Amino acid sequence: MSCSRAAVINISSSLGSLETTSTETKIPVLSYKASKAALNMLMRGVATSVEKDHILVVMLCPGWVQTNIGGPHASLHVTESVESLIKLMATLSNSHHGRFFNQTGVVVPW
Ligand SMILES: NC(=O)c1ccc[n+]([C@@H]2O[C@H](COP(=O)([O-])OP(=O)(O)OC[C@H]3O[C@@H](n4cnc5c(N)ncnc54)[C@H](OP(=O)(O)O)[C@@H]3O)[C@@H](O)[C@H]2O)c1
Repeated sequence: MSCSRAAVINISSSLGSLETTSTETKIPVLSYKASKAALNMLMRGVATSVEKDHILVVMLCPGWVQTNIGGPHASLHVTESVESLIKLMATLSNSHHGRFFNQTGVVVPW
């Protein structure tokens, strides 16, 4: 990504994916998932509206990370996740605009 280009990079979650969701019943988890689905929907609209201004909008999932949210058994250390995200961010271009990816650049289904 060119340093001169504005970008809105949203930290979403694959838990917000409607296509891959499990049948979760716990309200706090459901609320979290709904908030990420809402973020994705909002940012897809924003992506369209700022396209003319050449502003890049992307949704990224950091993976399952050992933080307060992810817990100690998560598969990724914070450093691994952040390094992957930074590497990916450096490759972002028009082809990523308005889309949803995990930390390695694989598309996450809506
Ligand atoms: N960890 C994962 O496995 C994982 C997976 C997918 C997506 N994500 C996303 O990654 C992002 C970072 O999360 P994390 O894993 O780094 O979690 P984290 O360590 O628990 O950090 C969450 C941060 O959000 C802040 N926060 C929580 N509720 C807030 C509120 N109501 N108003 C303002 N700030 C609030 C917390 O502030 P305090 O420290 O002051 O409480 C904390 O700085 C989040 O968007 C999360 O959804 C994480």
